[in-house]
Amino acid sequence: MKIKAGSNKIIYFEKVDSTNEEAEKLLFSRLLEEYTVIVTDFQLKGKGVGRNTWQSDPAMNILMSIVLHPEFLNPADQFMINKVVSLAVCECIAQFLPEKSIYIKWPNDIYVEDRKIAGILSKNIIMGHQFSSCIVGIGLNVNQITFDPDVPNPVSLAQLTGSAVDRESVLGNLTDQIKTSYERLRSGNFGEIDQDYLSTLLNYNLSAIYESHGKRFEGIIRNVDPFGRLILETGGEIKKYDMKEITLISNKISP
Ligand code: BTN
Repeated sequence: MKIKAGSNKIIYFEKVDSTNEEAEKLLFSRLLEEYTVIVTDFQLKGKGVGRNTWQSDPAMNILMSIVLHPEFLNPADQFMINKVVSLAVCECIAQFLPEKSIYIKWPNDIYVEDRKIAGILSKNIIMGHQFSSCIVGIGLNVNQITFDPDVPNPVSLAQLTGSAVDRESVLGNLTDQIKTSYERLRSGNFGEIDQDYLSTLLNYNLSAIYESHGKRFEGIIRNVDPFGRLILETGGEIKKYDMKEITLISNKISP
């Protein structure tokens, strides 16, 4: 990828194990200024959430990590970073797909209608009781047309627009959106961010089928708490679920 640095510092690697790992290594060897972007054309060990891997064909997609220093943020509010970055990724995708519905699928996925186009993996570095840095890794499918059959529901910008999309403009737009969204967090607009997050959240206030601890049940997302737990109404009760505790099985309840 030809990289135009613009106003951000961009560190490009032709290939790397994982941009998140590389960002972490660089961060510990020297100070990286806020909004430094580590970007690559190929990851040998791309990481997804939990034990998942992130698959991406060479030079097809956006594979990046951005370094933030949210010293202004109480570590108890760390999920706010996930919210502002998720909203920024949605905003970027909307610029390329103005006609489509774009959703945040709690906690880390971005969907276009019912297919996954991007995933977010963050690492927060907290020293004592103080936020030090946050490495936000984003994988966004841009020009890949065929995917491994074991990747659930993938889609790319090119599949949806019908033609190849310039990855540099996607990267430029994405970093600008992240800056704008993160600056909103810095100015303390939590209420507005929460509102935008809920209005973009897949299945917010809608019935869907979930599975937790081997049981399937119907539930309605009512909120996400400050720790990032899903607040679900089910069987007349309100329950909270951690990321690893619950999976969405199907979006719509068939009549
Ligand atoms: C997920 O959906 O499971 C999160 C995927 C995050 C993938 C990105 S690609 C760039 C960065 N480097 C990694 O190794 N992972 C993230």
